[in-house]
Amino acid sequence: MESIVLIGFMGVGKTTIGHILSEKVGLHVVDMDEYIVEQEGMPVREIFERFGEGHFRDLETGVLSKLLKEACIITTGGGIVERKENRKLLGESGCVIHLSAPFESLWERLEGDPDRPLAQNPRHEVESLFSRRIPLYEEARTHEVDTGGKDEEAVTREILSLL
Ligand code: S3P
Repeated sequence: MESIVLIGFMGVGKTTIGHILSEKVGLHVVDMDEYIVEQEGMPVREIFERFGEGHFRDLETGVLSKLLKEACIITTGGGIVERKENRKLLGESGCVIHLSAPFESLWERLEGDPDRPLAQNPRHEVESLFSRRIPLYEEARTHEVDTGGKDEEAVTREILSLL
């Protein structure tokens, strides 16, 4: 089986769904943020603070291209679609599931989360980031699964029906 990549905005549940999916399909799951944190030996917040967002995006590109060579489930950070290069890499991989949700429900989970540097910005900035990224997720995805009003098991079942 080829890789399955989960993309979508912060707080949509990529990591949780990735773990449930992993059990169902028997592929191991790699969370890109966790991978980067381990590789760099510091939290994402600190990478942003010390080296800037651009450096974090460079790290993401390196890790994504490496992981796409394995058959696994990859749960990405919400900003993976920011770079054209990453969207191209995703486009070349077989199965890219965009988990979507209305901004309001995401903001409830994100507001004030100290581990997410971009969620420290005021609501209107995070909302405009959300809007700006919609076409980028559309460009990169092969499928969309709307998570609104569904529990994690239901979302996973819907993904399985697409495979
Ligand atoms: C980011 C999302 C985060 C993390 C970093 C940047 C983004 O991952 O990669 O804080 O730019 O949207 P999650 O989507 O898992 O929160």
